[in-house]
Amino acid sequence: MENPLLQMQGLRFGYGPQPVVNLPALELQAGQTCALIGPSGCGKSTLLHLVAGLLRPQAGTVRIAGQALSELRGAALDRFRGRHLGIVLQRLHLLGALSVLDNLLLAQRLARVATDVGAARRALAELGVADRADAKPAQLSRGQAQRVAIARALVHAPVLLLADEPTSSLDDANAGKVLDLLLARARAHGAGLLLVTHDQRVRGRLDREVDLGPRP
Ligand SMILES: Nc1ncnc2c1ncn2[C@@H]1O[C@H](COP(=O)(O)OP(=O)(O)OP(=O)(O)O)[C@@H](O)[C@H]1O
Ligand SMILES: [Mg+2]
Repeated sequence: MENPLLQMQGLRFGYGPQPVVNLPALELQAGQTCALIGPSGCGKSTLLHLVAGLLRPQAGTVRIAGQALSELRGAALDRFRGRHLGIVLQRLHLLGALSVLDNLLLAQRLARVATDVGAARRALAELGVADRADAKPAQLSRGQAQRVAIARALVHAPVLLLADEPTSSLDDANAGKVLDLLLARARAHGAGLLLVTHDQRVRGRLDREVDLGPRP
């Protein structure tokens, strides 16, 4: 049988003595979409950073397409992340000095796929922001910036898309649109999606939903 796309086992992490993440097991199959929903401060962003290999767990393992992240270090980890993952963090990290289009071209370069202006423009068009290609991130509305960040996460065709609170700073109309686009684009690319959020508006929209309870 093929490896699951994402496999987490016995994952624990704390910034101090108290664990912030304590997740016995979670698996995601290729192309599956899953929402992890929990209140502010319950460790969702921390968990997403563990899955992205941006933090290392104190116990447990994260496997992506069968590869344990703990076996990768430095440049090899960066390469693996670049090739397999598309990441939309809670803070969008668009580079302010670059145009929207150049932010996408940089993402291709970092993923070590061929720089392809056509693919970058198509990714922007799919998210409805093609006309903002030459704008700087500071000139975008919050909803537009969120869409550009999603286009950038998809431009190198990752197998797994990670999204941290993609809707929570948006009004109902924009949150609905961004979620529709995120799901449609993930499905069109056959990418799995792990979304973490405290936004109750995502309930019922993804293949699976896991509640992360409040911590005492
Ligand atoms: N770098 C850090 N150093 C110390 N503590 C941290 C750090 N980052 C987060 N924390 C603490 O860890 C806990 C979980 O934080 P995290 O950002 O993962 O929560 P979250 O569920 O994503 O919250 P939100 O819904 O507000 O984004 C919080 O109590 C937070 O204060
Ligand atoms: Mg968070």
